[in-house]
Amino acid sequence: MSVTPLVLNEPQALRFEINRAALVDQKIFDTEREKIFERCWLYVGHESEVREPGDFRTRTICGRPILFCRDTANALRVFLNTCRHRGTVVCREAAGNAERYTCFYHGWTYDRDGKLYAVPGQSAYPPSFDKTRLGLQPPPKVDNYRGFVFLNFDAGAPALKEYLGRATEYIDLVLDQSPSGRMEVIHGTQEYDIRANWKLLVENSFDDYHLITTHATWLDYLKSSGVEIKRPEKGHVLPSHGLGKDLGGGHGTTDNVNFRGRPVAAWIPIYGDAAKPELDRIRSEVTARLGAERAKRVCDTNRNLLIFPNLVLLDGSSVSVRSFQPTAPDRMRVRAWALGPVEETPLARQVRLDSFLTFYGPGGFATPDDIEALESVQTGLGTYKEVQWSPLSRGMAKEGDQLNTDEAHLRAFWVQWDKLMRS
Ligand code: FES
Ligand SMILES: [Fe+2]
Repeated sequence: MSVTPLVLNEPQALRFEINRAALVDQKIFDTEREKIFERCWLYVGHESEVREPGDFRTRTICGRPILFCRDTANALRVFLNTCRHRGTVVCREAAGNAERYTCFYHGWTYDRDGKLYAVPGQSAYPPSFDKTRLGLQPPPKVDNYRGFVFLNFDAGAPALKEYLGRATEYIDLVLDQSPSGRMEVIHGTQEYDIRANWKLLVENSFDDYHLITTHATWLDYLKSSGVEIKRPEKGHVLPSHGLGKDLGGGHGTTDNVNFRGRPVAAWIPIYGDAAKPELDRIRSEVTARLGAERAKRVCDTNRNLLIFPNLVLLDGSSVSVRSFQPTAPDRMRVRAWALGPVEETPLARQVRLDSFLTFYGPGGFATPDDIEALESVQTGLGTYKEVQWSPLSRGMAKEGDQLNTDEAHLRAFWVQWDKLMRS
């Protein structure tokens, strides 16, 4: 590789710097696909996005067309979406329900279980032609953690549960909002491109240092709506207490005391008086089910959780699932969904979706400003040959707890990224 090192990590000298080429260079981008995306567990979708036999969604993951669906027995299935004849993408719709999948080129047809069902003019093939060996092929590994479905292109990868490690503690905190532990993707997908390197969105998704400046308009809106925003204590950037945590394996999270309301029972004025009794009822249910201490943890804290490398659960004033695919060194495709408890009442669901759109929506307070910030970074990185390094050392000299506005959790991502890139 032309440029080394990519991450300068000198704990003794309290130096941690990122070589900006890591965010720009085409060769590094190609190596990432091979060393990171072809080895790590990658998010496919949520079980609730396909419900009935024959339901399907198509996705592009690590440059591969993917079919995510339910088979005849209603089991979740993931297939590589390529015809075994010449390679055509077999299912070309974004979503739907299919009895069978017919390739539009020569008409080979596959059933819901991926078996090759029919071949036009099959008799012209020699006797060695074996239909049973020509079904839709699954990726080497597919697994699911509590409804979140992942795939892995590396047949030798560790099990998903092992890979997720301590991140499962935080996934469980999200899912404990639901009385049955089951959440669903609420219909609709936010899908957009950002002209920036995908790792900038990793950082941005759990970097609380930028909140008070990039999202000043949103904080002003909260204040003007009657939400109490305290002045930050001395030495702090934000009005409320929060931590940044390295969860191992490149996963990391913020772990914050909530100040901005949560549909899981932390009411704020912008939700409207009508919602208060309903949110109080939800809080009582959570407390009765989990006990006061766990209920406090679930309801009164919020978290932005990164599952390495490219899945983010934003569990704040709503729950967003955000996954992004690098398409070029300076471009990514983002997909995001709102997630809610399956049992939620229409009123609580309305509060949730209002919160989701107000902050994360395409016209919300956060997303357009974040995209503007990231694209501006990428433009600035055009100078990477002259201005080579970005410091990422906030909090490095501190013993013990790291704040959400420090960068320990961002460093955790980069350390794992660097380790895999050099493997
Ligand atoms: S490529 Fe699919 S049938 Fe020929
Ligand atoms: Fe942001």
